[in-house]
Amino acid sequence: MSVGIDEISFYTSNYFLDLRTLAEVQQIESEKYYQGIGQEKMSMAAPDEDVVTMAANAAHPLIERVGADSVSTLMFATETGVDQSKAAGVYVHRLLGLNANCRVVELKQACYSATAAIQMACALVARQPEKKVLVIASDIARYDLDTSGEATQGCGAVAMLISANPRLIEIDPEVGNYTEDVMDFWRPNYRSTALVDGKYSTKIYLKSLKKTWENFVEVSALAFHDFSHFCYHLPFSRMAEKAHKHLAKINKAGLTLEQVEQQVEDTLHYNRIIGNSYTASMYIGLTSLLENCKQNLAGKKVGFFSYGSGCVAEFFSGTVVAGYEKCLHTLNHKSMLDARQEVSYDEYLQLYRYPDPKDGEHHDIPAGTTGRFRLAAISGHKREYVIC
Ligand code: CAA
Repeated sequence: MSVGIDEISFYTSNYFLDLRTLAEVQQIESEKYYQGIGQEKMSMAAPDEDVVTMAANAAHPLIERVGADSVSTLMFATETGVDQSKAAGVYVHRLLGLNANCRVVELKQACYSATAAIQMACALVARQPEKKVLVIASDIARYDLDTSGEATQGCGAVAMLISANPRLIEIDPEVGNYTEDVMDFWRPNYRSTALVDGKYSTKIYLKSLKKTWENFVEVSALAFHDFSHFCYHLPFSRMAEKAHKHLAKINKAGLTLEQVEQQVEDTLHYNRIIGNSYTASMYIGLTSLLENCKQNLAGKKVGFFSYGSGCVAEFFSGTVVAGYEKCLHTLNHKSMLDARQEVSYDEYLQLYRYPDPKDGEHHDIPAGTTGRFRLAAISGHKREYVIC
């Protein structure tokens, strides 16, 4: 019996800032963003959008297909938690109408935790193959204005159903792990924006890639040349391109630069115009590969490098299942991305600065999202979500 990803669907907010606009205000060349970091646009969450509404929106098309009662566990991965105690997934459980017997839990370790959730979900399904686990990763990437991280903001959520005999990706049990206590990127409880040592974070990312790969090849029979494509954690798309060149060099792969680039190229289309979505980014990258690669991927091996600052990293592998193309949500994704609205720099600042009420009074939140779920109010310190 194989275990893996049976369904995958993602969501991002309906507003975006073009990085050309940001570059113009900063009086720098837009090529620094378009080419230098490989990013074109970044999604900006509306005031009534948060990790809960994005998560429910990502999962809704998937639940419509498989039915709410089929989910036995919901694992919610995020580093943009809305509560220190209550799991954000409990709100999503109600919004999606999941069964009262479905367990819900939230996981955190920077951008890595969705991968931890997937591995735990695979273990649960291996133990009880009739069960299906819904893994949702949802995040809003926020850095201080006028910092080097500002152009790498974004937001998005991805929902994946983990099951026995999956229709999209069979996940292999062998993994390579690496953990080291470092301060490359973090967000103390009292801050709404992340702190980051940018250059150091990219070095630790590459070091973790090498370490996880070394650990992976010790336990797996697979070698570099067995893989046709690679999905990387995507803080910005150039990071994946750099990382993959690094891995190809470590393995003395003997491929041309073009061949190396082709192994990641199709994973980057969506993230280039969404921006960083932390926990969701690598899996939005996988969706981009499955939905945009012209080649039939059936039977192909895909390598995954998941990285969470702080840091925990993992390299694992999967095989694309024959017939996968019939199970995708490609049209939904493309029409959602095409329908987004561009914002001016001033509108971006308004979205960025929209206050997060802390006083316990009743606050109606203005409508902005075009999604099916919204945060309608915060009242008495309670978040009130509605289905539109
Ligand atoms: N035309 C073309 N390219 C240009 C250019 C121009 N006019 N101007 C600059 N560039 C290139 C630079 O040469 C550079 O390319 P190389 O890296 O190949 O040398 C690239 O654009 C970026 O320029 P800088 O290095 O000067 O950029 P920066 O220092 O202002 O910012 C960054 C880069 C530090 C990564 C910053 O974006 C940042 O802090 N981001 C947030 C942290 C991050 O994403 N880290 C990634 C690893 S940690 C992680 O993955 C977890 C997570 O999700 C955050």
